[in-house]
Amino acid sequence: MSAALFEVPVAAPEADLPRAEETALVIEDVVKYFGDGPSRRPWAKQPAKESVKAVDHISLTVQRGEIFGLLGANGSGKSTLIRLISTLLIPDAGKITVFGVDVQQDEKAVKRLINRVSVEASFFKKLSAAENLLYGARLYGLPVGEARPAALQILQQLGLSEKRFNEPLEHMSRGMQQKVAIARGLLTSPRLLLLDEPTTGLDPRSKKDVQDFVQRMRREHGTTVFLTTHDMDEADRLCDRIAIINSGRIVALDTPHGLKQLIGARNGQAGQTSMEDVFMALTGRSLDDDNLEEPE
Ligand SMILES: Nc1ncnc2c1ncn2[C@@H]1O[C@H](COP(=O)(O)OP(=O)(O)O)[C@@H](O)[C@H]1O
Ligand SMILES: [Mg+2]
Repeated sequence: MSAALFEVPVAAPEADLPRAEETALVIEDVVKYFGDGPSRRPWAKQPAKESVKAVDHISLTVQRGEIFGLLGANGSGKSTLIRLISTLLIPDAGKITVFGVDVQQDEKAVKRLINRVSVEASFFKKLSAAENLLYGARLYGLPVGEARPAALQILQQLGLSEKRFNEPLEHMSRGMQQKVAIARGLLTSPRLLLLDEPTTGLDPRSKKDVQDFVQRMRREHGTTVFLTTHDMDEADRLCDRIAIINSGRIVALDTPHGLKQLIGARNGQAGQTSMEDVFMALTGRSLDDDNLEEPE
């Protein structure tokens, strides 16, 4: 990948960062309700019945250059947490900082440091991959002359063949569309890349292309990656550390090895523990049962 891609003017220059921050992301005791949570009904002792505590007192820290995975079943609160980090939702309690910048106090500065890629990415389906990317680049104020070669290069590295660049997106598989979404997320050279289920619903080949690319981003550019997944192998292979989320709470947080050791020791079978065993032991559920359908 050319160095030019990472010198586009919209990304905050290193000097703009508060300090040489070693910490990319700090989440402190964050709570998010949907419906009538107690913060909106301060007089009520209990939240209304229909309210959902999607994020329930979550705290975690992600270091610069880390690939951090949030592993959980459908409905466990993963996307809500990603939306809170990316300023799309406001927490009911707690605090989030990105490279030392508070998401509520300086939304604009945070937006320059991050990009979010989600499974429900929206595109102009009649336009081609290249056109969608250039449109995205314009929105961010990137010069087209720089954005075009950069966009094409990212697509190539993601394994999308050049002859497909000018085909309407509606003719492409979900896997290919997801690659275009990732390429768009990278155009602004984010320092913190938020990937919400980047490989969900992808065929094995596309899955591997995306996983390889995430590792390459970190290796070559030191990008910090915060990703959500319900794929245990993916979390195991790709992530430096994993937080397991269940009903809005973090039930464990460690390296894949550390998690397996913890559960292995508890079960008296250290060394033979899989991530699946870890997940079952900590959440009491199997991910296979409730993730057969695509997330909404
Ligand atoms: N906009 C919303 N309005 C109401 N409830 C929501 C909304 N978004 C998410 N939820 C609820 O919050 C919980 C967590 O959802 P979500 O963060 O999407 O989980 P995940 O991404 O892990 O599948 C679920 O119970 C979901 O139904
Ligand atoms: Mg989700």
